[in-house]
Amino acid sequence: MSVVQMLKTEAIVDEAMDKPREHYQRAFLDLSGISIEFPTKKGPFKALDNVNLKIAKGEFVSIIGHSGCGKSTVLNIVAGLYKATTGGVILNGKEVDEPGPDRAVVFQNHSLLPWLTCYQNVEIAVKAIFKGKKSKLEMKQWIEHNLHLVHMDHAMHKYPAEISGGMKQRIGIARALAMEPTVLLMDEPFGALDALTRAHLQDSVMEIQADLNSTVIMITHDVDESVLLSDKIVMMTNGPAATVGEVLNIELERPRNRLELADDPQYNKYRAEVLKFLYERQRRPQE
Ligand SMILES: Nc1ncnc2c1ncn2[C@@H]1O[C@H](COP(=O)(O)OP(=O)(O)OP(=O)(O)O)[C@@H](O)[C@H]1O
Ligand SMILES: [Mg+2]
Repeated sequence: MSVVQMLKTEAIVDEAMDKPREHYQRAFLDLSGISIEFPTKKGPFKALDNVNLKIAKGEFVSIIGHSGCGKSTVLNIVAGLYKATTGGVILNGKEVDEPGPDRAVVFQNHSLLPWLTCYQNVEIAVKAIFKGKKSKLEMKQWIEHNLHLVHMDHAMHKYPAEISGGMKQRIGIARALAMEPTVLLMDEPFGALDALTRAHLQDSVMEIQADLNSTVIMITHDVDESVLLSDKIVMMTNGPAATVGEVLNIELERPRNRLELADDPQYNKYRAEVLKFLYERQRRPQE
């Protein structure tokens, strides 16, 4: 039985039990009962076990956890690049079973095509999605608009080899945004950047997300980054058979200012919660 069928059956059972209407309202993005086993030479390796997560439309969710616990695997399942062994993902009422333009991915290694300029790297995604829907001029304006959002207008006709790592990362983000994805999936998007560029890009992503009300899943290793950007921090247990350990709701007002938050007791409380989870409750054996 597919996950959609399972949930439908569940809904019918609920209906029979005369539950209130809200009960049937499923999460916008619903990860339910996800387990995955990878075949290895030593036999199957269970990376994830029973991962459950409900994400509302417009929510910014961070996934944090120690290296190798399975964060990228979760993201790849939502992207439709990996298939869960059991359970699955429902996005807006539809089961995810392959990659699609409704889920843009920003990979950590900024995967730009080196023989295309920055503009053309964004254009290739825009053409694939908006061909027949936007005119040539509209597409050009849309590409330029998204490059402007990440402050890359000045270098749009340069090739990836001619720009810095941070700039490449920004082009990757512009390309993902230009796809107008329903869900933006980012795997440690700021991991390789220097502190200043990282802060600048975090602020841009917060602004863009506020403007577009995008639903975002971002993987990070950075505790401050997760508290600053998120509505919800999902803390994963160590693998193998990793799962969601705790979920922390971040109820800090937006727009958020990193300098003001540095002295905010609530911010520091959230920060301490995440640190405690990572370094006390999920301490790695070698530490
Ligand atoms: N295709 C695969 N085949 C076999 N094992 C895999 C595969 N992909 C991931 N794994 C294993 O699953 C576990 C989770 O990997 P994953 O890449 O999701 O971790 P992660 O939390 O993203 O780590 P990091 O923070 O280092 O990026 C690891 O033990 C990894 O070796
Ligand atoms: Mg990873």
